[in-house]
Amino acid sequence: MARHLITSAIPYINGIKHLGNLVGSQLPADLYARYQRARGHEVLYLCATDEHGTPAELAAAKAGKPVADYCAEMWEVQARIAEGFRLSFDHFGRSSSEQNRKLTQHFAARLDDEGLIRETSETQMYSHADGRFLPDRYIEGTCPNCGFEDARGDQCDNCGKLLDPVDLINPHSTISGSTDLEMRETKHLYLRQSAMKDRLEEWIDTREGWPVLTTSIAKKWLNDGDGLQDRGITRDLDWGVPVMKGDQPWPGMEGKVFYVWFDAPIEYIACSQEWVDAGKGDDWERWWRTDKGADDVRYTQFMGKDNVPFHTLSFPVTILGSNEPWKLVDYIKSFNYLNYDGGQFSTSRGRGVFMDQALEILPADYWRWWLLSHAPESSDSEFTWENFQSSVNKDLADVLGNFASRVTKFCRSKFSEAVPAGGSYGAAEEKLIADLTAKIREYEGHMEAIEVRKAASALRAAWVLGNEYLQEVAPWTTFKTDPDQAAAQIRLALNLIRLYAVISAPFIPDASAQLREAMMSDVTDWPEDVAAALGVMKEGDAFAVPEVTFRKITDAEREDWQERFAGTRT
Ligand code: 2FM
Ligand code: ZN
Repeated sequence: MARHLITSAIPYINGIKHLGNLVGSQLPADLYARYQRARGHEVLYLCATDEHGTPAELAAAKAGKPVADYCAEMWEVQARIAEGFRLSFDHFGRSSSEQNRKLTQHFAARLDDEGLIRETSETQMYSHADGRFLPDRYIEGTCPNCGFEDARGDQCDNCGKLLDPVDLINPHSTISGSTDLEMRETKHLYLRQSAMKDRLEEWIDTREGWPVLTTSIAKKWLNDGDGLQDRGITRDLDWGVPVMKGDQPWPGMEGKVFYVWFDAPIEYIACSQEWVDAGKGDDWERWWRTDKGADDVRYTQFMGKDNVPFHTLSFPVTILGSNEPWKLVDYIKSFNYLNYDGGQFSTSRGRGVFMDQALEILPADYWRWWLLSHAPESSDSEFTWENFQSSVNKDLADVLGNFASRVTKFCRSKFSEAVPAGGSYGAAEEKLIADLTAKIREYEGHMEAIEVRKAASALRAAWVLGNEYLQEVAPWTTFKTDPDQAAAQIRLALNLIRLYAVISAPFIPDASAQLREAMMSDVTDWPEDVAAALGVMKEGDAFAVPEVTFRKITDAEREDWQERFAGTRT
């Protein structure tokens, strides 16, 4: 039995995520976690909400709530939706946890002791009325380039020009509206990533079999321009992990917090402590400390491509630089973008289908299947309603659902609601078993390699084999001349439904559970031996005709949804 630590990039707290976010991290991570559990391995699958930073503060302000309350509420919302999608986290944590605060402050202290942190003085906009320094996004004014009146301190949304707050004409605070601003000197901490360049490069160069997408992005950041830049890890914000050196004050850093990208990945570790503190596990160190057994763990991270630099460079600098025996990631699976109907999914513009909306119109499995079987692995991919309708109708309704329905209904009408006795297996059955064995071994290979699309297509091919068998042996015809032989064919087919339920569960857990319940079997063992797995349901064992497993999406529905989701969400 192996041990798999699996994390998916932790979603920002501000708002409900869209399907593009889901398919780029949480969903494939869930697929992999479910698969490894199904193979009998020990899995710790962690995710959390990313709660610090300006976006959280701004979203809370917009909602008119204190930021801590806003985060607590949004965590509930995200947790409920994740459950709706059947994301099987062992724990869904929060980066604002006490555990993460302590651990983040601990890492900062370690890095400082290792000489990897330097202090820098810079000037920054200070607002007298607000009594605080203002991050770029909290300052607005008139764009010196195009005259747009609501340009932000970092960029003009109208002409796109990158700005410095001092460039703005009539700058004012977006918190209070005050124009009583001045440039003041302030100190910040920088993580000396540049000092770690060689160690990082060596580490990345020795990662075998990593996806090209992951290593190419890492290399680009490592070598572009002046190479790996030192990174500011503190901010003048109220909301975040207070800058402390372990549990000691950090002189000159009073009132400052760590940058959100510094504490977010540390939450992967803190989350396992939250998992223990919630009483769900009893030892987090055996997953994370190489001096406590974590050397045996295989650690896989899932994320969208925009997150890759932080996971291949910044977070490893934190881990390696600490000079403590923390577990480093073994494999980073990254994804391209999913586009929506000719454009991009966009949270800020409310474009596309969001997780809550998706569940309002169809059960999770429909989405899981489409998203995973179209995962943006080798390039960006696109969601269209036509494609969604056709995949669901063909793969799920026609191929899998129809197979289960035809077999069980035929058996009920010609025999009974129990596995029929009689007849024997011949060449057609042997061929099916051989073909299925090959297909399932192929499926396993793709799952091990986290080739999500290829795994989906091998699974679909395994479903197709059952349909082809049924078509070929045609029990409804056999029955007229040789009912015993028809019984043997149906016996095999009923067993096939159970087997499909087991191997399909990582992709479509609810439908799989429903099919297995209909087959009245609680055997979930992985079909190492396909012939044996097809003999689990014995003559005389009862079963039930399942409710419709997957229904078809009608043209009218598709058009309705197409129109409903054409605009932007407010
Ligand atoms: O891009 C994002 O959604 C970030 N919230 C991901 C953070 S992943 C990690 F480092 F914690
Ligand atoms: Zn402008």
